[in-house]
Amino acid sequence: MTDTITFDERVAIVTGAGGGLGRQYALELARRGARVVVNDLGGAVHGEGASTRAADAVVDEIVAAGGEAVASYDSVSEPETGEAIVEKALEAFDTVDIVVNNAGILRDKSFAKMSAEEVDAVIDVHLRGAFNVSRPAFAHMKDKGYGRFVHTSSNSGILGNFGQANYGAAKAGLIGLSNVLAIEGEKYDIRSNVIAPVAMTRMTEDLLGAFADFVDPAQVMPMVVYLCSEQNRHTHEIFSAGGGRYARFFIGMNEGWFAGAKRVPSVEELAEHLEEIRDISAFEVPASSNEEINLLGRQFQS
Ligand SMILES: NC(=O)c1ccc[n+]([C@@H]2O[C@H](COP(=O)([O-])OP(=O)(O)OC[C@H]3O[C@@H](n4cnc5c(N)ncnc54)[C@H](O)[C@@H]3O)[C@@H](O)[C@H]2O)c1
Repeated sequence: MTDTITFDERVAIVTGAGGGLGRQYALELARRGARVVVNDLGGAVHGEGASTRAADAVVDEIVAAGGEAVASYDSVSEPETGEAIVEKALEAFDTVDIVVNNAGILRDKSFAKMSAEEVDAVIDVHLRGAFNVSRPAFAHMKDKGYGRFVHTSSNSGILGNFGQANYGAAKAGLIGLSNVLAIEGEKYDIRSNVIAPVAMTRMTEDLLGAFADFVDPAQVMPMVVYLCSEQNRHTHEIFSAGGGRYARFFIGMNEGWFAGAKRVPSVEELAEHLEEIRDISAFEVPASSNEEINLLGRQFQS
């Protein structure tokens, strides 16, 4: 099949692109013509240490295949270093069109045993890291009237997973960030979406068991690369990708129970209607806070 989705003249930043999923995104974006900032701190899976090797190896791979890329070794976790990653794109390639917030670490612990340091370390990389890189990139994209963001969440953040309160909270926070970037970016053709991947990488090698052989990180790549493209018109959405399945997560809302305008129901009355309140056999997918308020307005009118 010939490539119809291309990235000529586009500049992409992929954080945490020295291995695992990020490497796949960087290689394919570059193969399709993007100039890529391959950012990676090069530390261990729990965040310790740093090395230039991981980012350099991916840049070498891209250049050997005839593509264009530069390495960035800054950590996403500080505002100044986040800004330096965007500066790298501006210095090397004059612009930034695409940001894939992908860098991540794990510090799993059951909630009762989790230290404040373990909470901070994970939130600093995943959630603050996405703010630190997106903020300067968004300002630039707004000026030029074009941008694509993909933020990396996880089923752990969307649905919950034992031992991952820090990671799950950070990953759910990324959905909040993406939703607002989608709304604030809309009139500048800035689109912001979320990916929840499932793939065998160093981060998941001890967790996937029998599934490990069936979830190649390359299989996540097409969804992310599409969301980065000019062809992608969708924004404010969350996609799951892994093991060859591509699907959409969404936040739905049922009609619920309407107690009546300007009326405070008793606790017992509310309890009587609990199944109606919980019933998800029919629902809508409101696209913003305003849409939820509109749904309420509809009930006032009826
Ligand atoms: N593999 C999965 O099944 C899965 C599932 C859900 C979410 N994710 C998310 O996907 C993303 C990629 O993870 P992966 O599975 O490829 O693991 P990975 O460990 O191979 O990749 C993460 C990369 O981020 C880099 N990194 C870590 N801290 C950094 C920092 N402060 N600044 C810059 N780079 C940093 C690491 O060096 C590493 O190369 C992560 O955000 C992860 O949470 C992965």
